[in-house]
Amino acid sequence: MKIIALYGGKSAEHDISILSTFSMLQAFYYDYYQVQLVHITKEGKWFRGPLLTQAPEAIETLHLNNETFEEIKIGDIVEENAVVFPILHGPNGEDGTIQGMLETLNMPYVGTGVLSSACGMDKIMTKHILQQIGIPQVPYVALSKVEWLADQEKVFEKCEGSLIYPMFVKPANLGSSVGISKADTKEELQAAIETALKYDRRIVVEQGIDAREIEIGVLGNDEVRTTLAGEIVKDVAFYDYESKYIDNQVTLQIPAEIPAEIHEQAREYAKNAYIALDGSGLSRCDFFLTSNNELYLNELNTMPGFTQFSMYPLLWQEMGLKYGDLIEELIQLALN
Ligand code: DAL
Ligand code: MG
Repeated sequence: MKIIALYGGKSAEHDISILSTFSMLQAFYYDYYQVQLVHITKEGKWFRGPLLTQAPEAIETLHLNNETFEEIKIGDIVEENAVVFPILHGPNGEDGTIQGMLETLNMPYVGTGVLSSACGMDKIMTKHILQQIGIPQVPYVALSKVEWLADQEKVFEKCEGSLIYPMFVKPANLGSSVGISKADTKEELQAAIETALKYDRRIVVEQGIDAREIEIGVLGNDEVRTTLAGEIVKDVAFYDYESKYIDNQVTLQIPAEIPAEIHEQAREYAKNAYIALDGSGLSRCDFFLTSNNELYLNELNTMPGFTQFSMYPLLWQEMGLKYGDLIEELIQLALN
């Protein structure tokens, strides 16, 4: 059978997708699969690369190179007896757009479907759904560009009326902390809103809280399984893009050193949120945990970072499911 590895993509997380893909390519069971590389450029052009029958040695193999990659039309990926693995993070990949296209093309694919991908990518939609099923979240205000352009003072009143500083301002639709900033004052809030609005016309302002960050892995279609929690241990105040991927200023504590009942509570919330969003395949569910053991669900990532050093596969490894078997299970879930 052929796996079509779709990677790169138009989002700001293009480079992270390449890192996730390179790690995965080391772990496919090549006795059963051949892996067709399909690189989506930052501009959204599609290029078909080599058909791999073994793990590539260098990450450069994934980069566009005139001899091995040829530009294709999207429909050219359609073939029998193949499953698509969209290893794409962020908008235009993790947000239901690619999933909708694959549905239209009648191609089986790994991971969440259109609805859950779209809702999971959209912080405002996620919050509305979680609120509906009574899962605790930090206080927030959802805003649109239209509201901001119409009356900035009214927006300040809305934020300062229900939240206290510090606040975090986030584009509704992005991942890996892109476009997010912290505001300690009204002036900073103004700058943070303007930054976030460069990325999206809908944004969310959240109450900043002093909390640990813990994450749960979720896997399955009808039968949903969860991992114990892992903790992102930071030596920086705010886990932003640089600290996540460039400076490497974080360590993962797996399992998190938290009371057993908090592990259980987080697992239950993660499972319920996944089901409410119509999850299938996989997701990583991120929480805040305060020093009083209050747990708040922050977000679901429907295609979490997937390098060998990433939280999601390491959480499953802790549960006894090793990296290669996890990938195999995801492929089987796509075919069921
Ligand atoms: N958006 C990144 C890849 C993550 O959540 O792991
Ligand atoms: Mg996150």
